Amino acid sequence: MSAEKILVTGGAGYIGSHACVELLQVGYDVIVVDNLSNSKPESLARVEKITGKALHFVEADIRDKQALNDIFSTHDIYAVLHFAGLKAVGESCAQPIRYYENNVYGTLVLTEMMQQYGVKRIIFSSSATVYGEPDTVKYTEDLPVYGATNPYGKSKAMVEDILKDLATADKLSNASDPWKVILLRYFNPIGAHLSGLIGEDPNGIPNNLVPYVSQVAVGKLEQLSVFGGDYPTIDGTGVRDYIHVVDLVKGHLNALQAIQNISGCKAYNLGAGKGYSVLEVISAFKRITGKSINYKIVERRAGDIAENYADPGLALRELNWQTEKNLDDMVADTWRWQSTNPNGYA
Ligand code: NAD
Ligand code: UD1
Repeated sequence: MSAEKILVTGGAGYIGSHACVELLQVGYDVIVVDNLSNSKPESLARVEKITGKALHFVEADIRDKQALNDIFSTHDIYAVLHFAGLKAVGESCAQPIRYYENNVYGTLVLTEMMQQYGVKRIIFSSSATVYGEPDTVKYTEDLPVYGATNPYGKSKAMVEDILKDLATADKLSNASDPWKVILLRYFNPIGAHLSGLIGEDPNGIPNNLVPYVSQVAVGKLEQLSVFGGDYPTIDGTGVRDYIHVVDLVKGHLNALQAIQNISGCKAYNLGAGKGYSVLEVISAFKRITGKSINYKIVERRAGDIAENYADPGLALRELNWQTEKNLDDMVADTWRWQSTNPNGYA
C-alpha cells in the first residue's frame, strides 16, 4: 500500500516545517503549499536534510483556486494540515482586511477545493487567543470562543466557525463521507528541532517573548522590555503556557490518527498545562546559555492578560497526547537554533 499523502498548507513556516519533519519520519508523503510570504524555501531544504526524504513543494497562495485545483487533481490527498495564515497581532489591528482576506478567504478557497475533490479531513491551527479574556486562567475547550480582542484572533474564531458549519451541514444531510475537522488551539509554541537546523525565523524585530530573548542572548538586540511587573502573578510578570514546537506537531500526528473516528468537528487545546512567568523564562535562558539577558520592566502591553495555561486533559484522553519536553528543553533547543543560525535562514 502506498503512503498516505498529507497536504501541508504553510509548510515552509515555523510550525509547518517541524510538522513536515515528523510526518516524513513516520512515513507520510508530504505536499507543501506555501506562498513564502513569511518563510524561505531553505526551511524545506533543511527538512529534507534532517529526514533524508523528499517532499513535494508547490509555491502558491491558498487563495489561488487554479493552483489548488492542480494539487488536488494531481494528488490523492488523505488529509490537510492547515497552517497557512498571517499571525502578527499588532499588524492585524493595522491591516484587518489583509488578515481576514488571507486567513478567512484563504480557508474558504481551500475548503471549497477540498469539498470539490472529496478530501474532507482537515486539522486547523487555531489559537488560545480565541478564548479572549475569560474569568479563569486554566482554559478548557468548552469556554466560549467569541472573545478574541484583535482581527488575528477573530479570524481564527471565524475559521473555526466555518469548519464547524461544514461538519454540521454534513451531519444534517447524513452525508456518507462527512467532513472530519480537528481544531487545535495552540498555547505558546517555542523551541526548535533538536538538530538546530530548523527553527523560528521572524521577520524584523520579534513581537513574541522567546524570539526576542534569544536575539538578546545572541547579541542582535540590546535589551528586552518586560511588559508589566505588576500583574497578580507569581512575580508580577505575565504567565504563559509555553509548548515545545516538536511536542506541538506531534499532537497533529495523533490528531491524524484519530481523525477518521471523529464525529464532525472537535477542538483540542495543545499546551503543557503549566505556566511560566517572563522572569522565569529569562532565568532559564541565563542558566542554559550562560549569557546575561539585559532587561527592563516597562508598562504593560495593551491587550495582554496576566496569566493563562491550558487544561490539556481532553487531548490526553481523546488523542492520547501530552507534552514530553520541559522549559529547559525548549530554551536549549531555541538556543541551539539561534546561536548556529543568528540570521535565521538568510
Ligand atoms: P509562520 O508565519 O512561520 O508560517 C505560516 C506559513 O504560511 C508561512 O510559511 C507563510 O509564508 C504561509 N502563508 C501565509 N499565508 C499564506 C497563503 N495565503 N497562502 C500560502 N501560504 C501562506 O507561522 P507559524 O508560527 O508557523 O504558525 C502556523 C499557524 O499556526 C498559523 O496559522 C498561526 O496563526 C498558527 N498559530 C501560531 C502560533 C505561534 O505562536 N506561532 C500560535 C497559535 C496559532
Ligand atoms: C501573543 C499574542 C497571541 C498569539 C501568541 C502566539 C498578543 C497580545 N498576543 O501571545 O494572540 O496567539 O502571541 O504566540 O500579541 N513579553 C514581554 N516582552 C516582549 C514580548 C512579550 O514581556 O518583548 C511578555 C508578554 O507580556 C507576555 C509574555 O511575554 O506576558 C508572552 O508574550 P508573547 O510571546 O507575545 O505571547 P502572548 O502574549 O501569550
